[in-house]
Amino acid sequence: MRAHEAGALHGDLGNRGPAWLRTPVDVNALVPQLWPRNVARAADGALAVAGLGVRELADGFGTPVYVLDEDDLRARCREFRAAFADADVYYAGKAFLCRAVVRMIAEEGMHLDVCTGGELAVALAAGMPPERIGFHGNNKSVAELGRALDAGVGRIILDSFDEIDRLTALARERGVRPGVLIRVTVGVEAHTHEFIATAHEDQKFGFSLAGGAAIAAALRVLDEGVLDLRGLHSHIGSQIFDASGFEVSARRVLGLQAQIRDARGVELPELDLGGGFGIAYTTQDDPAAPHELAKRMRKIVEGECQAERLAVPHLSIEPGRAIVGPAVFTLYEVGTVKSVPLGTGIDGADGRRSYVSVDGGMSDNIRTALYDASYSATLASRASAAEPMLARVVGKHCESGDIVVKDEFLPADVQPGDLLAVPGTGAYCRSMASNYNHVPRPPVVAVRDGRARLIVRRETEEDLLALDVG
Ligand code: LLP
Repeated sequence: MRAHEAGALHGDLGNRGPAWLRTPVDVNALVPQLWPRNVARAADGALAVAGLGVRELADGFGTPVYVLDEDDLRARCREFRAAFADADVYYAGKAFLCRAVVRMIAEEGMHLDVCTGGELAVALAAGMPPERIGFHGNNKSVAELGRALDAGVGRIILDSFDEIDRLTALARERGVRPGVLIRVTVGVEAHTHEFIATAHEDQKFGFSLAGGAAIAAALRVLDEGVLDLRGLHSHIGSQIFDASGFEVSARRVLGLQAQIRDARGVELPELDLGGGFGIAYTTQDDPAAPHELAKRMRKIVEGECQAERLAVPHLSIEPGRAIVGPAVFTLYEVGTVKSVPLGTGIDGADGRRSYVSVDGGMSDNIRTALYDASYSATLASRASAAEPMLARVVGKHCESGDIVVKDEFLPADVQPGDLLAVPGTGAYCRSMASNYNHVPRPPVVAVRDGRARLIVRRETEEDLLALDVG
């Protein structure tokens, strides 16, 4: 886009925000689906998590800080496990991984999906039983595969012919027979309420179903007999809110399962339908409960198996975001508040935008800048009697796209020194954090029963300098 005069294009949006954003009746109210279940406003008006006030957290650990409601995370694990009772539930560690969280999910009976040697190292260091680990990735190195075999990880998810060759050679060398799944690209792409089912599968992950690579891979693994082919895997996308995308993918992947049976007389005993279960980031999002999704998915799989005359395979799923995303909020301190004139909008009104700057930004949450993701925010350190004011929450980075929350109503008296909380930041925020502008990455604090425990410490300037060998 060529440069344009700012006011003419942006002026109409400043006062009103996007059409879906409603002015809140009570700007202090917490919308339940956005917050960890043990977060509430205390008698003094400030947010508290499991009884611990945010001012105490900020004083103890500084800001910004990711605050994990441990019981909320554990409850989400239990809900998924209860809903998918006869399945293995893999927590997708890419959403957020540290040793304490590995222990929590392990205690809750979860499996764990890792996709790099680094994630595998954290899992093993935390004592995750290796047989409950699934190892993903489209370009696992020979060293990573060797390490996975030596550790005895339960499933390796094959992603390319090169990898089949590598793993077969490594398994032969070691005289082991690892359990593997074949990642199938089924031509279904799901984002929230919509999915696209296509015949083409233009992406780097997995073996193409339509192109014939998937059946060729399965037959090769079966015929070589070195790897223990347990089943097929498909992951169709993220922020999925209903089961219709899974319906198409399950049909396609079970069709392949039937083809394999017809070709070799083997019924693969497992099926992994991947992750992608959606969560609420704003008042507009209303994700289905795990048990509803489980019911639909089981029905779909049973129906397809019946149609193909297949025994129902043992199911696995891999939720990441839905386990950790809603269990965390980021606590920031407000540094500056600026009201910026936008000029006259198309409705003839003079627009203004209120920029509320916090002490973090795109280094602790890149999702707004990267995906145009929407978030919510609330004034956390006190309740306010002021009118709601449309605000944009921005960070401290040297980039105008450094936005944390694009549009949110905050009390009009929000001021420097206030604490602001952004919910839904447990997934893909700390795990995708950077040191842009040499901003040290924030700590993660787990709160349970009124007690806070540091589980990832804050990075320091010394940490940054330690990598800089001069
Ligand atoms: N399984 C596989 C094979 C995956 O590739 C992924 C995510 C998951 C499970 C977990 O998906 P979840 O349940 O968390 O949606 N950085 C992006 C998300 C990338 C997801 C990549 N794969 C974001 O911030 O939205």
